[in-house]
Amino acid sequence: MGARERANAKKKKKQIAKKQILKVRKHEKLPAQSIGQLPILDKDEHFSKSRRRGDCPDVVAAQNRKKLSNNEDNVCTYGANQKILVVGDGDFGFSAGLVSHCKGKGSNIVATSYDKAKELTEKYGERATRHIQAIESKGGAVAHGVDATELKQTLPKKLSQKKFDCVVFNFPHTGKQRVHLNRKLLLDFFISAKQMVQPGGEIRCTLKNKPPYSGWEIRKQADVAGNLGPAVEKRFDFSLFKGYRHMTTEPDAKKFDAFEKHCVTYCFVVSNNEPIISDIDVSLFV
Ligand SMILES: C[S@@+](CC[C@H](N)C(=O)[O-])C[C@H]1O[C@@H](n2cnc3c(N)ncnc32)[C@H](O)[C@@H]1O
Repeated sequence: MGARERANAKKKKKQIAKKQILKVRKHEKLPAQSIGQLPILDKDEHFSKSRRRGDCPDVVAAQNRKKLSNNEDNVCTYGANQKILVVGDGDFGFSAGLVSHCKGKGSNIVATSYDKAKELTEKYGERATRHIQAIESKGGAVAHGVDATELKQTLPKKLSQKKFDCVVFNFPHTGKQRVHLNRKLLLDFFISAKQMVQPGGEIRCTLKNKPPYSGWEIRKQADVAGNLGPAVEKRFDFSLFKGYRHMTTEPDAKKFDAFEKHCVTYCFVVSNNEPIISDIDVSLFV
């Protein structure tokens, strides 16, 4: 075969390969850029069919990740005058960092753990004690055994009557690697937190923007809870909360590595308790 014929054969081969790729893409109905980017999901995840669609949560998450990392101004911050309720704090590291972030004004901050005081010391020892001292020395309140899904019932009485500008739960996790349980935790947290926020205030929740967390469908849980505006996504920057390190639910659980750049705080504005469109039974209008 001469040089010219060889070149023609190579060209033809390339054209056939290109056609085949396009055929596969068309069949899968995926945007071209998402091929090869689809992450592996949790074992017990059910939406393997929707993974193949352009609107699957992971593709949306990947697109949002790109948008967030392109916008350096879009970082989650808090104001010194905001009344903030922190729930599900592990060793109180976030709340202690939040006090510094709010220029040492702790009197607006209520920091809570799900663990009872004894469990907390057993799990986190000195670290937790140091963080609690840092919060209380600046006028912040600390409470233990507070269930984010039953805030009114489990907060100390005088705190349960308060309304906050913001309720925040960073890296919620039941401790069980089961998607449906973690989805339920989010949903029940939203329902409960709504009662603690004044209209126009916010519920914030930070998650890693990757599977399996992206499969917890946070926006859907907020929608089902009702009276929450669309999620505004902000990049979570650990360095803004001095001394804070993410804690796992059980101290010996597998730690995340290098996950910081994938953390997003989802902020939902709480409307007043008027029903919103998704709450209304449309059959009433027929
Ligand atoms: C992955 S850890 C994150 C801890 C902490 N927020 C942080 O960022 O380091 C998950 C936390 O959620 C808490 N948690 C689980 N179920 C909860 C519930 N129903 N109410 C409040 N906290 C809960 C656990 O106790 C644990 O501290």
